[in-house]
Amino acid sequence: MIVNFNRTVPVLFGPGAALRTGLKVKQLGVKKVLCVYDQGVKSAGIADKIVDNLKAAGIQVVIYDGVEVDPPDTNINNAAEMANTENVDGIVGVGGGSTMDTAKAINVLLTNPPPISRYYVGSGNEMKPGKVLVLLPTTAGTGSEVTPISVVSDTATHSKKGVIGPTATATLAIVDPELLVELPPKITAATGMDAFSHAVEALTSEGMNPMSDVLAEKAVELITQNLLKAVKDGSDLNARTNMSFASLIAGFAFTDSLTHWGHAIAHTIGAQFHIPHGVGCAVALPAVVEYVADAVPEKVWRVALAMGLSLPEDMPPLELGAAVAEAIRNLNRDVGIPSLKEFKVEEASLEQLPGAVLADDCAMFGPKRASAGQVLSMLKKAYEY
Ligand SMILES: [Fe+2]
Repeated sequence: MIVNFNRTVPVLFGPGAALRTGLKVKQLGVKKVLCVYDQGVKSAGIADKIVDNLKAAGIQVVIYDGVEVDPPDTNINNAAEMANTENVDGIVGVGGGSTMDTAKAINVLLTNPPPISRYYVGSGNEMKPGKVLVLLPTTAGTGSEVTPISVVSDTATHSKKGVIGPTATATLAIVDPELLVELPPKITAATGMDAFSHAVEALTSEGMNPMSDVLAEKAVELITQNLLKAVKDGSDLNARTNMSFASLIAGFAFTDSLTHWGHAIAHTIGAQFHIPHGVGCAVALPAVVEYVADAVPEKVWRVALAMGLSLPEDMPPLELGAAVAEAIRNLNRDVGIPSLKEFKVEEASLEQLPGAVLADDCAMFGPKRASAGQVLSMLKKAYEY
């Protein structure tokens, strides 16, 4: 078997690491930086902390604080125009997945002609290397700080597009669990289950590889043991540290192995019903594990072990899948993930979704194919549990 190990982003990790942001950015040769964040990070006081740290290191700071959830291409084009007018030589993104996606996409436009739509996957347009890009996650879920993709909401077509490659990849990730202590329980739960889904889907995907497997297994173990603690007590720094580490290594795992049916479903129901990405992943995952269990029983067994389940070793694949799925549903319930029904989704509306799920790029990495009827069955299982 020939596999790719693509881990290319250096990481500074640990409580207090954010206080070295200015020093690190300076060491990377940056004199003037665009600091990218949203209003939530601003009101939590995290943005000021990072901006002050950059200024204390003698770095000029220009601010873009207009990040929106599911970042629109128009915002990215406008922010990049400002950054180019200011002639910044680096970007620091502080926030969750939307902020990191925005920072990555702006970086593309610092060295390549606008608009960002020129660089969507499939466009065939090459990108020159960007400038210095430093990312500081304030959630433990997306893994975007180490992945080579920016997801952009295209306002012309009302669809999500990917910008992928070295230019959409951080120069350095600074992962500081102390930035997460104020994160509300609901967001902690949803983002944590996003990371859990990255790990389980990476382990069971068609593109699985041995290094991703090891990282994904550890992520499953750490999230099973720490997510509820972080949800119950956001100031539990040990739980936050374990969750940040789990999210990071799950990000590395799915960069190589890719996610599959769970993310195909989450993307579809997210676009259709405006359900947060992590919630969509969480409700889809149990049904997906059940569905793929007969194709990759040894991988589902490894998920079971990493979750600490004690099951009979000779358990038939379908029973194994059902047992692991139930354990994931229990984790969802424990951390307060609502079902689609609780999100007031009409059950009948699920009938229209299998086509979009099957057309999602992630669908091609499932360890087995699915018909529209089988996808609908997974959606219905995600509806109520
Ligand atoms: Fe995800």
